[in-house]
Amino acid sequence: MARVAAEAVGLQTIHQVVDDFYRRVQDDPVLGTRFSVVTDWAAHKARIVHFWWVALGGAAYEPYRYRVVYTHRALEVRASEIQRWLDLFADCVQSALPESLAAVWLHRAKAMGGSLAQVVARV
Ligand code: HEM
Repeated sequence: MARVAAEAVGLQTIHQVVDDFYRRVQDDPVLGTRFSVVTDWAAHKARIVHFWWVALGGAAYEPYRYRVVYTHRALEVRASEIQRWLDLFADCVQSALPESLAAVWLHRAKAMGGSLAQVVARV
């Protein structure tokens, strides 16, 4: 089922959503400045596209190792920022996909946001 999700969404749409998301993030009053640590946007987006492809059940095609908890703990993200991140992400996913597929992807994103919030977030 999960593998079907990656293939049903498709790598090209994941690219499109990730591009759209980070375009909006950079202009966002809450999140924009938090991403100033990213210097190589092409490399960051390639890692994130691969991350979502695998999170949706696709086979890994790069040897990336992710340290999601470590990364966000170091950034000292706040619960309110995670909520904003999820809201923006939902807008991007919903505008790119039919409702049923968007729901599958957003279910994964919300689960990750929830566990990130528990593990790393300050108030
Ligand atoms: C559901 C919520 C989120 C998910 C699923 C998510 C996912 C990710 C992933 C997979 C990475 C790559 C980590 C790695 O390479 O090991 C990343 C990096 C990053 N995230 Fe998040 N993130 C979330 C929320 C946030 C929030 C709320 C912020 C800021 C307030 C944030 C800021 C960043 C930044 C700045 C990086 C790049 C760090 C660097 O390259 O040094 N993320 N995120």
